Amino acid sequence: MRITETTPKTFMGYVFSLLMSICLMACTEQIDEAKVTQVVPPLPISTVTVLKQAALAMPDSYSADVAKDILQKGGNAVDAAIAAQFVLAVTLPEAGNIGGGGFMMIYKDKKSDFIDYREQAPLSAHRDMYLGEDGEVIPNQSVIGILSSGVPGTVAGMWLAHKKHGSLPWKELLQPAFNLAEEGFKVHPKLAKSIEMYITSLEKRGFAVNFENYFADAKANEIFQQLELADTLKRIRDQGRDGFYKGQTAKIISDFMRQENGLVTEQDLLSYEAKSRQPITAKWRGYQLLTSPPPSSGGIAIIQWLKMYDLMTRDQEKLTHNSAAYMHLLAEIGKRVFADRAEYLGDPDFVKVPVDSLITDEYIAMRSQTVLKDGISVTELVKPGLKESEETTHFSVMDKWGNAVSNTTTINLGYGSGVVVEGAGFLLNDEMDDFSSKPGVANVFGAVGGQANEIQPKKRMLSSMTPSMVLKDGEVTFVTGSPGGTTIISSVYLSILHALEFSMSAEDVVNKPRFHHQLLPKDVIRHHNGIDPAVISELEQMGYTMSNGHFGDMQVILNKDGKIDAASEITGRGKSIVF
Ligand code: GLY
Repeated sequence: MRITETTPKTFMGYVFSLLMSICLMACTEQIDEAKVTQVVPPLPISTVTVLKQAALAMPDSYSADVAKDILQKGGNAVDAAIAAQFVLAVTLPEAGNIGGGGFMMIYKDKKSDFIDYREQAPLSAHRDMYLGEDGEVIPNQSVIGILSSGVPGTVAGMWLAHKKHGSLPWKELLQPAFNLAEEGFKVHPKLAKSIEMYITSLEKRGFAVNFENYFADAKANEIFQQLELADTLKRIRDQGRDGFYKGQTAKIISDFMRQENGLVTEQDLLSYEAKSRQPITAKWRGYQLLTSPPPSSGGIAIIQWLKMYDLMTRDQEKLTHNSAAYMHLLAEIGKRVFADRAEYLGDPDFVKVPVDSLITDEYIAMRSQTVLKDGISVTELVKPGLKESEETTHFSVMDKWGNAVSNTTTINLGYGSGVVVEGAGFLLNDEMDDFSSKPGVANVFGAVGGQANEIQPKKRMLSSMTPSMVLKDGEVTFVTGSPGGTTIISSVYLSILHALEFSMSAEDVVNKPRFHHQLLPKDVIRHHNGIDPAVISELEQMGYTMSNGHFGDMQVILNKDGKIDAASEITGRGKSIVF
């Protein structure tokens, strides 16, 4: 068993985190109790790989302990993931949620599945909803307050994952979260500090949201109860997805929205559906990458990044990890990756995303031709390539049968919109900011977009969340994912290079400094502490602006050379266990 305890974040680290993290079912039937408690029969022995151990890497100790308990009771990786997701809605309010959304990558019985439970735009949302009369973006409206919230997807996502892959009864998976909300949990000093800083920043910036009324009592090492949230979790425990999207919870949400001039209605909630999508797969070296399809932008991006890296380095000696040449090359590739992201990527149910074209070897070879090894490409000249477009949180689980889950979930920035649904006790997301409010105008993560990611009713906003896995001969070798807005994509592809190009331990995979470049802001490389100062000055001399800050709270599992290793990034409050 390994517990990764962590050092406090710096003030700037927190500010950066805050900024970064800143069916139509008209049917009215009662919940089918048999479904709620469905038990999937055990697999025939011949199709099961029995590992000696299970492993998990969670963003806090409560979710880690509950996930371990579920696995020890005989639950599978999906059961553990569902239980952990609901626990995080209680104990990790900055990102864990039932008021947000996310993506869950599943590899079970040697088959993959991807549950898209991303939030979507309310029915009354429209393209120009964040523009003032002057046609300019109204500052902060898509980032804080009730208008920034999309229709939550988390409960529907967990319900779908359970229906398709769960083995323990739904109620059993919800009980730990309910207990933690009702009885309270001991607040980690880092959480207390983060809440205090968030309240101060809301006051300083004059944002009138009700966050403080709900969270001001969360003091370091004291027990913190959330009774309204407990009641909501009880309804979800007892009624399944209908406990959120119908009945009392739906009424509380929609009444609150009406009262506060928000957009989410009963109809929005009733019509929300989580979707099962085909993961993107690609061959990379001797491995199979299993990664996130649109509306995630991350899967396409990490494949482009890894394949271009290989192409650009195939005729030379391996680059030194985090050397100037290595960081520059990956920044140059990143310019192209993010130019494509801005032009082509959006919700595939609304726009045609040319996924296959963007990851073919021919396209990668063509895109690589303009990558400069010695100089910086002029940002304005890096165009999309086809001829014809923080706080989030992540966890990874692997069960003793070799099944795995990589799950990234978010309410967007830390503490989402800052608005708690009064009477239901949960924080609403501010995910609408991940749409492009106006073509070419950057969102809070500095990402720009165009038509493909403009607001439309029921459309899902483009995401950077990239829960991913690497397989070798059908077995899971590496489970990875990260929070961090657009930096998620860099954290994920770099973690793959750390694990498989540089053969690092899981602990080094998550803790060795990472860096990120995304086309705009122009020639800026954001990086963690720990990059060699000589490398920083070399890159500055080349013309880069180097910007220090922390991003990501990676949680990975490495299953290589007969050994299972798991790690949680040291700067967070995560806990990883191999047992
Ligand atoms: N809210 C961050 C993302 O989905 O990319």
